[in-house]
Amino acid sequence: MPPTRRTGRAYVPLAVGVLVAVAAAGRLGPPNTMVVAGPSGAVAMLALARRHQAEAGVTNAEFLKGQLEAVPLPDATVDVVLSNCVVNLSTDKDRVFAEAFRVLRPGGRLAIADIVVEGEVPATLRRAIELWSGCLAGALEVGEARAKLATAGFEDVDIEITRTFGPEALGEAGLKLLAELGIDPAKVPGRFASAFVRGKKPAA
Ligand SMILES: C[S@@+](CC[C@H](N)C(=O)[O-])C[C@H]1O[C@@H](n2cnc3c(N)ncnc32)[C@H](O)[C@@H]1O
Repeated sequence: MPPTRRTGRAYVPLAVGVLVAVAAAGRLGPPNTMVVAGPSGAVAMLALARRHQAEAGVTNAEFLKGQLEAVPLPDATVDVVLSNCVVNLSTDKDRVFAEAFRVLRPGGRLAIADIVVEGEVPATLRRAIELWSGCLAGALEVGEARAKLATAGFEDVDIEITRTFGPEALGEAGLKLLAELGIDPAKVPGRFASAFVRGKKPAA
């Protein structure tokens, strides 16, 4: 059920958990369409997703195999692109934003929740794989995120910080890592933060 065939709005949550997607689609209800693109499209996850979908009696969701950097949908077919804590994991964020822009209809919206960085964090911290897998090291600096979204074509870009974390918020393991890297938490100028990142594809 490609979103182009629907009369309602088409939402694409990128790499969302299957239960969340099924629940959200059920809540939206037809004729809204929710197309879930991401590695949750891997064969086993697809089967699981469809089972939950059938059990919940949700008909307005479709699960597709894809990547943030290659969204398996045609141009200009989506009203809202969503994601939660995924963009930070991509190694090609320009491509991610370009893909979101491509699939959105003119006037469509990008609305994602992610980790960002306010200020600067040391490069050694960025290179720590533990922090990459923990969704921190790949976080974009706020200004960089704005610039990338503007380059992709988005307007009305808004980055709303909802919570900030000092290095101490990394917990015991994080503090141990900082010590191993020889970084004094008190001297890290930047900080990680949770943010809502929004943008709009200009109307045609
Ligand atoms: C931190 S989890 C967030 C999952 C989900 N959005 C949620 O809120 O529960 C990150 C997810 O993004 C997926 N992921 C990482 N890189 C991706 C990429 N380049 N394209 C699509 N999905 C990706 C991972 O497989 C994982 O399922």
